Amino acid sequence: MHGNQLHHDPQGMQHEHQLLRKVVQEIGTALAERPSRDSLVADLLEDLCGHMLAHFDHEESDGHFSEIVQKAPWLTDRVDNLRVEHDRFRERLDAMSRFAQEGDGSEAWRCEMEDQFCEFTRVFLIHEEAENRLFQEAFSQDIGTGD
Ligand SMILES: [Fe+2]
Ligand SMILES: [Fe+2]
Repeated sequence: MHGNQLHHDPQGMQHEHQLLRKVVQEIGTALAERPSRDSLVADLLEDLCGHMLAHFDHEESDGHFSEIVQKAPWLTDRVDNLRVEHDRFRERLDAMSRFAQEGDGSEAWRCEMEDQFCEFTRVFLIHEEAENRLFQEAFSQDIGTGD
C-alpha cells in the first residue's frame, strides 16, 4: 500500500498564500491613492489574476485537495465548497479585470472598483482561512511525529 505517500507541501502553499496577500495589499494601497492610478490598479489586478488562477489550479489539480480527501474523507464536503468558491472567484476576477481596464480615473470608477475589490478580498481571506484550517485538520496527525 502506498496510500500514505502524500505530496502535500504546506510550506509551498503558505508561500503562495503570502504572495497572494501581498498583491492584494498592493492593490488596496493603489486604490487608496489620490489621484487614482487606474492603469496601475489594472496592471496589479492582472498580476493577481495570474497568481490566483495558478493557485486555484495548484490546489485543485496538483493533489492538495485530493490528498485532503484521501487522508480525511469526512472533510470532502468542505473541500467541495472550496472548489465551488474557486469558480466564483474566477468569475469575479474576470469581471473585476474588465472593470479595471475600463478605468477612466474618475472618482466614481475608483469608488466602485474599491467596493468590488474590498468585497472580493473579504470573501477571499475567509476562504483562505478555511483552507488553512482544513489543511491543518487533515494533516495535524502528521505534525510532530518526526516523519
Ligand atoms: Fe483555495
Ligand atoms: Fe488557497
